[in-house]
Amino acid sequence: SKRTITVIPGDGIGPSIIDSALKILDKVGCDFEYEFADAGLVALEKHGELLPQQTLDLIEKNKITLKGPLTTPVGGGFTSINVTLRKKFSLYANVRPVHSFKGTQARYEDIDIITIRENTQGMYSGLGQTVSEDGCTAEAMSVITREGAEKIATFAYELARNENRKKVTIVHKANIMKSTSGLFLKVAKEVGEKYPDIKTEEMIVDATCMKLVMNPENFDVIVTTNLFGDILSDLCAGLVGGLGMAPGANIGKDAAIFEAVHGSAPDIAGQNLANPTSVILASIQMLEHLGMADKAEKIRKAVADVIESGDRTTRDLGGTHGTTDFTDAVLERL
Ligand code: NAI
Ligand code: MG
Repeated sequence: SKRTITVIPGDGIGPSIIDSALKILDKVGCDFEYEFADAGLVALEKHGELLPQQTLDLIEKNKITLKGPLTTPVGGGFTSINVTLRKKFSLYANVRPVHSFKGTQARYEDIDIITIRENTQGMYSGLGQTVSEDGCTAEAMSVITREGAEKIATFAYELARNENRKKVTIVHKANIMKSTSGLFLKVAKEVGEKYPDIKTEEMIVDATCMKLVMNPENFDVIVTTNLFGDILSDLCAGLVGGLGMAPGANIGKDAAIFEAVHGSAPDIAGQNLANPTSVILASIQMLEHLGMADKAEKIRKAVADVIESGDRTTRDLGGTHGTTDFTDAVLERL
């Protein structure tokens, strides 16, 4: 029987880039069944809530979700939908690869970095958030557990081994955040000792930013806590041409959600200007996760060829074309 995938088109540029990804998946003969679900602003308008129960049920039932970006309204007591999804389905690993394509306006070539971001703990655990009555003191709790650190570090080293990578850089701030970042570093290093075939390097997060900008080719796999991973993965996206080039997979034991790293881009929404590459690359991650590496590779080649040849690329890559033209150029190559 056909595999069913939950698809959340999302907000802003979401529906247009998801449409592009689905056309491409169909073109290579994936033969998936899609069940569409609402989340984000569009769900708030239609169902009165950002994350309706039927959406959660579909994510749980089908296990695999392809998701567009969601707008979380600022203020009004809304908790981030993405944070909620990641916690609810224990999607503890956020895998964010960046890879140079020739033909972008990126400053570097030969970048191939995977950031493995712990996705449920740390500064984003959402616990203990208070503001004092006078509005002058704000608090939040950061939680790191041995179990959480062990799981994400093991994930990173296993991925490194499976993909024949040479080095894992543990990024931390244990010199200042001695308890939380300290525990993360200690546990990650213990895990690293079980992988003598892979080099372990530890690096403080601020220095990491500098080194990523100066010598990004020295990096291979990065493993880090939630907040640092969020920031570093956007930095890494900038190394390869911007947010339009950066996919992310949220992986748990029982479910996985594949998405772009970027948001709903309200500044360009509805204008056919979005670069769909991030979501297309996320669908490639999804195919690899499903053991369909040959189809994934076909799509990657077609996307690379469009970008490299400059045939109908989008504005963020220096081109003059829109989402639909870019998508057609990829489809023609398939
Ligand atoms: P953003 O990532 O939506 O946009 C940042 C900048 O990058 C904008 O100038 C935008 O035009 C550009 N950009 C992003 N994706 C692009 C693409 N595919 N092609 C071309 N240009 C692209 O970040 P922003 O503006 O801070 O957030 C907007 C909304 O998205 C917020 O409501 C935020 O909460 C949400 N968001 C959702 C995420 C998710 O669902 N995974 C992740 C990040 C933000
Ligand atoms: Mg982010």
